[in-house]
Amino acid sequence: MALDKFVITGGNRLKGTVTISGAKNAALPVMAACLLGEEPNTIDGVPDLADTRHLADLLADLGARVERPAPGRVQIRVEDEGNVHAEYDRVRKMRASVCVLGPLLAKRKKARVAMPGGCQIGPRPIDLHLRGFRALGAEIELDGGDIVATAKKLRGAHVFLGGPFGSTVLGTANVMMAATLAEGQTIIESAACEPEVVDLADFLNAMGARISGAGSPRLVIDGVDRLGGAEHRLIPDRIEAGTFIIAAAMTNGEVALKNVRLDHLMAVVHKLREIGVNVEPSDGGAEVSSARHLEPTDVATYPYPGFPTDLQAQLMALLCLADGNSAITEKVFPDRFIHVAELLRMGANIRKEGPTAIVTGVKRLIGAPVMASDLRASAALVLAGLIARGTTTVSRVYHIDRGYERIETKLRSLGADIRRLSE
Ligand code: EPU
Repeated sequence: MALDKFVITGGNRLKGTVTISGAKNAALPVMAACLLGEEPNTIDGVPDLADTRHLADLLADLGARVERPAPGRVQIRVEDEGNVHAEYDRVRKMRASVCVLGPLLAKRKKARVAMPGGCQIGPRPIDLHLRGFRALGAEIELDGGDIVATAKKLRGAHVFLGGPFGSTVLGTANVMMAATLAEGQTIIESAACEPEVVDLADFLNAMGARISGAGSPRLVIDGVDRLGGAEHRLIPDRIEAGTFIIAAAMTNGEVALKNVRLDHLMAVVHKLREIGVNVEPSDGGAEVSSARHLEPTDVATYPYPGFPTDLQAQLMALLCLADGNSAITEKVFPDRFIHVAELLRMGANIRKEGPTAIVTGVKRLIGAPVMASDLRASAALVLAGLIARGTTTVSRVYHIDRGYERIETKLRSLGADIRRLSE
């Protein structure tokens, strides 16, 4: 793993046009879903990221042939169903590897997947995924740090998947995938409504599944005997789009975004308008400009359609420049605040109280060496660097590379002064 860093000289206004990639968090479950089918699949708009490569490697371990015949296009066909083990070394590197659990259990009747640990954004239990599998008739045990799930036959059931923080995105994806091949009807209540879940349901339906209600908290899945293959284009990455919108706003820039679904960003656009950022739809995309004067605001993250936790850190960087006090409350991952300490190193004024950060706007941020070991927190530091006086060095860029396709190239094309160096 190359330990690259970004060196950013702040102060340039972002101007121009940027094209948003396909959604990482749609790509991962959609790729995993290919384990369910009997025929080849073609997925377009797959971002070239550490995480999507990682999942491709895991699928190869599990007997799939994964090819990238053209940029953004991934073809997946299962050739050998002998292996059902997702090893700790894979799961440790990417927690989303757990999304092979549902497909393996449904198709191969057995799955052995290393239990993921916590990560920088806090504990990440998967009890809700397991509750769903058990309801479908699977037996689950823990053996040597692996979850071993087995089922002679999965049977449809009425499952409630809500947890202490509301719905679960990958839990919903996992149980929905398992239910596609179960006997009879499954109803998932308190299902996640994220656009990535809808994208997965669309893909599964194209493979021959019978899922309705995707995008609502109630999913109805009628089991089928077999799934084929499908061709599918992934939705645009709403978090990457939100990150670029905030970057434009912070630098007082004027940026046009292509390949954006503003209807997936309603809560974000609403909040940004309150702050003084203009975000307007334009032909297949969006245009962003901002007032020099940014208003403070209060915001809490929630499952979709609420304000996404994956943009909380970036919004915090923006609110560091607002004229007054803002309160940011994390309702999805209450410990997701590792960027606070790093932003303080850049002259921000932030006080944390439990799951809330009180941000008092400052006149300017000041460049500093910083690092954060979470993808979105690191992105927030890059944004802060774009506006900070002097030079900011963001270390351990591999976290950003997990989820942003060529972020420095895209930012440079908008006029940012950002370079990648090996550490
Ligand atoms: N939770 C449980 N039990 C479970 C599952 C989740 O208590 O079995 C809790 C979590 O601890 C958390 C909340 O429920 O407090 C929501 O977690 P969720 O399961 O929805 O998260 P996830 O599916 O593991 C996905 C994204 C994350 C994103 C969250 C929330 C992918 C691959 N990951 O994770 O994305 O933050 O939903 O929207 O889709 C990122 O891209 O940077 C990222 C972390």
